[in-house]
Formats: sequence, structure tokens, C-alpha cells
Amino acid sequence: KSKGLKDYYNNYFPIGVAVTPNDIRGNEKSLILEHFNSITAENAMKMGPLQPGENKYFWSNADSIVEFGVKNKLKVRGHCLVWHTQTPRWLFKDSAGKTISKEVLLTRIKNHINTVVPRYKGKIYAWDVVNEVIADDTSYFRKSPLYNIAGEDFVEQAFRYAHAADPKAILFYNDYNTETPAKRDKIFKMLKGLLAKGVPIHGVGLQAHWSINNPSREELEKSIEMFSSLGLQIQFTELDISVYTGRQGGQLIAGEKAKEPAVFTPEMEQKQLEKYKMIFDVFRKHKKHITGVTFWNLSDKYTWLDGRGRKNFPLLFDTELKPKKAYYEVIKF
Ligand code: G3I
Repeated sequence: KSKGLKDYYNNYFPIGVAVTPNDIRGNEKSLILEHFNSITAENAMKMGPLQPGENKYFWSNADSIVEFGVKNKLKVRGHCLVWHTQTPRWLFKDSAGKTISKEVLLTRIKNHINTVVPRYKGKIYAWDVVNEVIADDTSYFRKSPLYNIAGEDFVEQAFRYAHAADPKAILFYNDYNTETPAKRDKIFKMLKGLLAKGVPIHGVGLQAHWSINNPSREELEKSIEMFSSLGLQIQFTELDISVYTGRQGGQLIAGEKAKEPAVFTPEMEQKQLEKYKMIFDVFRKHKKHITGVTFWNLSDKYTWLDGRGRKNFPLLFDTELKPKKAYYEVIKF
């Protein structure tokens, strides 16, 4: 049997990938099993897909991903219990269509956690409990419906509910742009405050939606040093390296036209492999603090970054599921 990515990193950390229910059945299945020893559901465990109506759960996608993981002895990460995106329509309203109170919202969050977490006890080893609550602008918390109704309390409570529901699960706060100093400082401040209150948080998920220009080695190392100084374990939970630059890895906004044609140029290939080489070098150096690195999608055949009108090429495997040059840089050490 040929060596896969996970085997090269055996002495470092598990290597994960975000999967869809189709990936674990189709042609992608053998590539997943060759290279990865951890999986995350790309969408199937978010609240909207999982609890589309109050107390009406849709389990089959999430169950199939967990069963695939268990059957193949992969680690399974749970993603995610509380997030302002992909929330079900019913979550913030009562039956008369009125916005609910803080108390009701916390109860609904608690019920969700108490239903989902125990179902996968012993199968899902780590949960992204709270996702992306820190603002990208100058404010502290993101002004989401969750925050507008419940203030910052929902963050603390979600961790407490999750810990009670599965005391053995490793609980993560997960966010992006964590190498941007201003946002990193706010995340650090929030986590430090919660830990000081004894809130059960065990790790920080640094999403790692990066680009050929970002992050620098210095900022990446700074993030690892800062968050590990809190005694938290670190996982890179959603790694990809966009070949475009600018806002959000060069994603287009509605109505905007792509300036570049959607081809993977030799220049992109070169810059991307250098970035992948650098970040894995940093990951290995800090292996003491890093307990997982997960890619957000498997290959360039399908990536969430393709959305908004332009093909992207952010992963280690190409559109035909073959290893790219960057792959060989990542396993060369
Ligand atoms: O499943 C529905 C389908 O029923 C519907 O007909 C179709 C029409 O729009 O949408 C389908 O849902 C889409 C879903 O992906 C599944 O494909 C949603 O529109 C789409 O918004 C959703 O995007 C996901 C996104 O989170 C939501 O914000 C991406 O796949 C997923 O990769 C992305 O992942 C997030 C992480 O969870 C958190 N961090 C950032 C990361 C990237 O945005």
C-alpha cells in the first residue's frame, strides 16, 4: 500500500478533510482513505441542515458521515453547534412570528446541543462548539441575530451545555482571519476571559482559509504562540489556499466580474506550493501545540471557493484527484 499524506504526518498530527455525503460514496472515497485519518462534515452537522424544523431532525447525512468515519477508524470532528450562518428559519421566531427572548433562544440552543452531542458520543471526539462570533470590523462581537438576542452569554452557555452533554469531547472555538492582528487580539481576549471563568474550552480552531499572499510566517507563528499560551490546543480546521488575492481570498461579490480567467497558471502553482511548504514547515515546528490539520474539501474538482462565479484551485489534489506539485512539497521534509 502506498504512503498517503497522513502516513507522512504520523508523528505530527492527524490530517483531516471536510466531506460531503457524496464524497464518502463516490470516486473520492479511496482518495480520502489513502490520505486522511480525520474527517469533518462540510455542511451536514450544521443546525440548519440538521434541525430544519423545531425538534424535527434530519439525521441521514450526518449519520452516514459518522458511520463512514467509525467504520474506517478515522477521527471525526463535529462542525458546528452554534453559528450565525446556516441557521434554520424557525430558530429566532416564535409561532406568531415574533422575535424570541434570550431565555427562549438559550433553551433552543441547549435542546439542540443536548440532542446532537449525545447521539455521537464516543464517535465524534471534538466539536466546534461556537463558530465565528468575533467581528471583522472594529466592533468586538459580531452583531448577528444570536448576539442581538442573547448578547455574548450564548458563547459561554453553549460550551457549558456541550461539556455537560459529553464530558469527554474536546471543545473548540473556531474562527477565520485569525492571523489578522486586530481580530486575533479580540479572539484572544474573549477566550482568556472565558477560561478565567472556568468555561470548558479546550482548543481553538484556526480555520486557515488562506491565499497565496496570506498569512506570513511571522503572523502564523504569532497566532500559534498566542493561543497556545492560553493552554489551548490548536487545530487548523478548514485549510485551503486560494490562488486569488484580495478580500476573502479574492472571492467575487454579487455582480462583480472576474478579472483573471479561471485557469491554474504556473505562477499560481509556484506561489501556492511555496505557501503550502511554509505553512507545513511551521505546523511541524509547533507540533507540540497542534492536534490536527484539516483541509476544507478534498480536491480542486469541488471547492466551496468556486462559488460566486469563479473556479478556484486551493487544495493539494487537482480536478482529476491527482496530487499537485504542492502535495510533493508538503510530504518532503
Ligand atoms: O443544500 C442546499 C440545497 O438544498 C439548495 O438547493 C442549494 C441552493 O442554494 O443550497 C444548498 O445549500 C448550500 C450548502 O452549502 C450545501 O451545498 C448553501 O446554499 C451554501 O451556502 C452552503 O455553503 C457552505 C457555507 O459554509 C455556508 O456558509 C459551504 O458549502 C461550506 O463549505 C461553508 O463552510 C464554512 C464553514 O462551515 C465555516 N467556516 C467558513 C467555511 C467557508 O465559508
